[in-house]
Amino acid sequence: MALLEIMLAGAPVLRANAEKVTRFDKKLGKLLDNMAETMYAAEGCGLAAPQIGLSKRIIVIDAGKGIQEFINPVFKFKEGSCTNVEGCLSVPDYEGEVERAEFVGVEYKDRKGNTKYVEADGLLAIALQHETDHLDGILFIDKASVIMPKEKEEQQ
Ligand code: CO
Repeated sequence: MALLEIMLAGAPVLRANAEKVTRFDKKLGKLLDNMAETMYAAEGCGLAAPQIGLSKRIIVIDAGKGIQEFINPVFKFKEGSCTNVEGCLSVPDYEGEVERAEFVGVEYKDRKGNTKYVEADGLLAIALQHETDHLDGILFIDKASVIMPKEKEEQQ
């Protein structure tokens, strides 16, 4: 496995509309493994392919239940609303309050190309919306009602 370079805000790839995945091959599996490793190394809970410079509709998330992979995700419903503080590995110095749907249903493909469906709330619902925005060239700073410098954790 390998760590991939994370693109920072300002990189054009973060503003592009990412392409659907059409080939579900070994290369895709390797990419997903590398994305997960990169996300964990950066201590993030989600990573979208544009963030590693690849304009494809691929997301990895760990919302507390281990790694989850979502390819070509499409929202089937979004309900309710909640506001939470979000950060982003591509905007490392800031965080912001963002309003999102509270409950979502998402259809997606797994790494083998099988169609799957998940309903989510809590952190997974938020992460799915944040990461899917990356596939459409949207960053949380575009949607945040409040943006603030990220507080550095105190070194003890
Ligand atoms: Co992000």
